[in-house]
Amino acid sequence: MELCVIGAGYVGLVTAACFAQMGNRVVCLERDHVRLARLRQGQCPIYEPGLAALLQEGRRSGLLSFTEDWEQALARAEVVFIAVGTPSQEDGSADLQHVLAVAESLGRQLPRPCLVVNKSTSPVGTVERIAAQIGSGLRERAVAFAVEVASNPEFLKEGSAVEDFMRPDRIILGSDSPVARERLQRLYAPFVRNRERVLCMSPRAAEFSKYAANAFLASKISFINELAGLCAQLEVDIEQVRRGIGSDPRIGSDFIYAGCGYGGSCFPKDVRALIHTAEQQGYQPTILRAVQARNAQQKTLLFKALEQHFGGFLRERRVAVWGLAFKPGTDDVREAPSLVLLEALLDAGVRVQACDPAALASVAALYAQAVSSGQLTLVEDPYTCAEGADALVLVTEWKQFRQPDFRHIRGLMRMPVLFDGRNIYDPSELSSLGYLYHGIGRPVVGHCKVTAA
Ligand code: UDX
Repeated sequence: MELCVIGAGYVGLVTAACFAQMGNRVVCLERDHVRLARLRQGQCPIYEPGLAALLQEGRRSGLLSFTEDWEQALARAEVVFIAVGTPSQEDGSADLQHVLAVAESLGRQLPRPCLVVNKSTSPVGTVERIAAQIGSGLRERAVAFAVEVASNPEFLKEGSAVEDFMRPDRIILGSDSPVARERLQRLYAPFVRNRERVLCMSPRAAEFSKYAANAFLASKISFINELAGLCAQLEVDIEQVRRGIGSDPRIGSDFIYAGCGYGGSCFPKDVRALIHTAEQQGYQPTILRAVQARNAQQKTLLFKALEQHFGGFLRERRVAVWGLAFKPGTDDVREAPSLVLLEALLDAGVRVQACDPAALASVAALYAQAVSSGQLTLVEDPYTCAEGADALVLVTEWKQFRQPDFRHIRGLMRMPVLFDGRNIYDPSELSSLGYLYHGIGRPVVGHCKVTAA
């Protein structure tokens, strides 16, 4: 099929590259000149396993191209995907200005009938607004064709987006039109040999499903985090409880890992937007508000624990931070728990040494002043990062941090104190190596006398 993908961001790029891989001709429209230039040179502008190879292949086969020119992008398109950002506005609602601007351009420029598919996460009713916007453009031009609009939310996880696209657990098609459904089913057929994974529903239900999925997953995390806080007070290890409940298939073992909070470009934004939608309807989103509040508290836990450990005297302490990305496998630090910790540590006058396999550049850009003053040091090597530290804090559970040589690290640190923000280490093993171990929702294990800074 002839496709156009509008927006070469995270979702757009993965969508374009995967459809091209299956033999479709895809033109991707991108208005950011720097990004466009990089893409045209065959460079992948984001860190996403497998994506660079797909982009190269699309370039070699000629099936994937990039342009900033609307006319060129739409010339042959049978299906147009909208994949632009819907960031949070100040009141928490999703900002639809980019989506609606695209709809306006489509109304003005579409050269022939086609199917428009919204992939951008947008509130219920957006498909109708897109259709109205395009419709008014077509009427102004007095063209004789109609354009159908469908919703097709994405469920890609950063770090495994290509894999998720290639082997989706479900594809949601939101359209009331049998023709549109059939066309999308054909397009997705190579990705879902098992047809039961394609779920057709109304556009509104599709739009809502995306928010429901993310809000539910965020709720699972905040739920376990809430119990973790209680465990900590009752001398119970949340890790044992997690295993105790996860084996019940009704509960499931995924997304019940206690930690220092969820971040990223989706959960926080989508929970906020859903709360806003509910409030607009005069409906009280009691659970969603609690999910959000618990997560905000969770992100402050590591700093509070450090503060308590040092008796409130943090100035001039050295703290090593392992992991800055909001989760492993990405360079994305949007709404990452690491940023809340860094901010508080820097404010408290702590000297921070941090490392991350992918996100150093993003953090360096955010904290340029602290980096240039020397208060924040960003290093690549976890061992160098731990040197001279009064405490080591694990924030993001990259594989590189899973089995380090803690015997060696103990000799590098000034004080062997470990704050495990993801509960990936064995407390008894660490205490036997001489560490003082703090987890999230786990009893503190080991001893360490705090000496002056
Ligand atoms: C999420 C959804 O999973 C995906 O379907 C949707 O399309 C986009 O939003 P993503 O933001 O890439 O994907 O990250 P995900 O792997 O879901 O993790 C989100 C956050 O939750 C991370 O900060 C992670 O550390 C945290 N998390 C996850 C926990 O704290 N505990 C868990 O048990 C699982």
